Amino acid sequence: MDFKHDPDTNFKDLEALSLQETKDQVQALREAVAYHNYLYYVKNRPEISDETYDALFARRQDLENARPELQSNDSPTCRVGAPPVNSLKKRKHASAMLSLDAVLEEDEVAQFQHRIADRFSSEKDRYVMEPKFDGISVEVVFRNGSFEYGATRGDGEEGEDISRNLKTIGALPFRLQKNKDLPSFLALRAEIIMPMEGFMARNKKRVQNGKEPFANPRNAASGIIRQLDPSKVQDKPLTLFFHELLEIEGTPPENHWDLLQKLPEWGLKVSEKNKKVSSFEEVKKYHQSMKEARDKLGFEIDGVVMKVNDYRIREDLGTQQRSPRWAIAWKFEHKKEITRLTDIVVQVGRTGKITLVALLEPVDVGGVTVSRATLHNADEVRQKDIRSGDKVRIERAGDVIPEVVERLKEKGRLRSKPFAMPEKCPVCGAGIFKEEAYHYCPGGLACRAQLEGAIIHYAARQAMNITHLGNKTAGALVEKNMVKDIGDLYELRIDDIKKPNHNYHEVSENSTILQPVIQFPISGCAFQG
Ligand code: IVH
Repeated sequence: MDFKHDPDTNFKDLEALSLQETKDQVQALREAVAYHNYLYYVKNRPEISDETYDALFARRQDLENARPELQSNDSPTCRVGAPPVNSLKKRKHASAMLSLDAVLEEDEVAQFQHRIADRFSSEKDRYVMEPKFDGISVEVVFRNGSFEYGATRGDGEEGEDISRNLKTIGALPFRLQKNKDLPSFLALRAEIIMPMEGFMARNKKRVQNGKEPFANPRNAASGIIRQLDPSKVQDKPLTLFFHELLEIEGTPPENHWDLLQKLPEWGLKVSEKNKKVSSFEEVKKYHQSMKEARDKLGFEIDGVVMKVNDYRIREDLGTQQRSPRWAIAWKFEHKKEITRLTDIVVQVGRTGKITLVALLEPVDVGGVTVSRATLHNADEVRQKDIRSGDKVRIERAGDVIPEVVERLKEKGRLRSKPFAMPEKCPVCGAGIFKEEAYHYCPGGLACRAQLEGAIIHYAARQAMNITHLGNKTAGALVEKNMVKDIGDLYELRIDDIKKPNHNYHEVSENSTILQPVIQFPISGCAFQG
C-alpha cells in the first residue's frame, strides 16, 4: 500500500476491508495526502495528477465516514468544515513578535552594517537576505511534529487564534515531515499572502457582485484570515512563507541559514529567493535583483530583509524598543509611472459623497494595468492643477488604484480649462453642497446612485447576505423603477423579473423572492477552540 510513490486508486469495496485493514489504509492515505500536499504547495513539484490526488483524498474521506472513530484532528480532510465561532480567542506568543526597522536609502543600510561590523569574526556568510513579503504576519506552532496553533501578531505579545482558518490553507502541513532533527516544540514566524493572480480574480468577482474591490492583496488576505467562519476561508487563494524562528525545543539549527534549509525538509514553505551573502556589495546586488524580479514573483513584496545569520551575534546585539538590532528592512520606492490623463469624472457614492476619478491612458505600473486613479476631491485637483489632457505622474503604494502625484509640465502644449465641480448632482440633478473637503449630493434615496449604493450595501454579505443582488441587479432594479426604497425588495415577485430559461431555486410561484436561507456546517471533525 504505497500511496506515496505509485498510488493505485482502484480501491477495494469498503465492506471488504477488515477494521485493521481500514486502519492501515487510513494511515497510509493520511501520510500520502500530506506528502503530495507538500510536493504541490511547498516544493511546487507535484508527482501525481490532480485526479489521483482527489481520489486519495476522497477515499480517505469515505473510510473516515464509514468509521468515524478513525478520525483525528490532524486529518487532511479536516481542512474544511469547522463551524463558525463568535469571536477569536487570544493567544500569547511563544516569544515576542518584534517588528523591523525599515529604511529606504542605501546610506541607512550602510550605517546599519557599520554599526554591527565589529561583531563578526569572519567576512563569510554574515547575512541572510530575504524578500520582505507584503502580507499578514503570523505565529505558527508545532508540538511533537503536529500543528498546534497559529495566531496573528496582534500587539506583538499576544494575538488572535486563527488556527481553524490557517488549517484551510494548503501550504500549512498538519504534521511535519519525518526527519531526524524534528523539534519537540517549534514556534515560527510566517507571512500569509494572497498571490496576485488569485487577488485579481477575487476582485473581479467582487466587482461583479457589486462589492467594493480590495485595495491590495494584503487587505484581501487580512479580511479572510480573521473570519469567524472557516468555511469562508476555504478555497481562497492564500498561501504562506515561513521566515523566522521564534522558539525551539530540541536540536536548534546552527544559524538562520541552517534553519531556512531545515524548514522545507520538515515540509514548510520558504522563499526560493533567500540568499546567504558576505559583503555589502552583495547586499546591494540582492536589493537590485529583487527590485527587478518584483513584478515577476506573482505576489507582492515591498522590500528586502537583511538579517544577521549567526544566532550568537544576534543575541549579543539584542533588541532596541520593539525591533531587533540584528535585522533591517530595506524597502523599495513606490512604483511610479507616467501617463496621460484623459478625463476627470465625478462619482456619487452611497452616502452622497462625491469623489473624483482620473481616467488614464492605460499603463503598466509594476505588473498591474492601470486606467483609473484616485483624485479624492476638488481641492486636491485645484492644488495639483491637474486638467484633462495633462501628462501626469502616478504612484502605486501597494494598492492597485494609484494616486495622481503631480502633473508634468509640457512646454508649448495648450491645456484644457481647469476642472470645475458641477453645481448639480450629475445623477439626480439636486444642487450639491460642500462640507469640509468633499462635495455631497443631498438627494438621498431619490438619487439613483445613492439608492443603488444603498441596495448593494443592504444586500452585502456582512449585512443581509442576499446572493445575486450585486451592482448589476441593483442597477437594473433601480433603472426599471422596480425598487424605490429597501422595503420594495421584499415586494419583488418572481414574475416581475422572470427571464426565460432562468433556473430559479425552489420557491413557490406566488411567494416573494427573498426567503431566509439556513445553512448547516458540515460536521465530522472535532475542532478545538
Ligand atoms: S523577520 C524581528 N522576515 O515585515 C524580525 N519579517 O515589521 C522578525 N516580514 O511584521 C521578522 N517578510 O512579519 C521577517 N522575510 C521576512 C519578512 C518579514 C515580511 C514582515 C514581518 C513584520 C514586518 C516588519
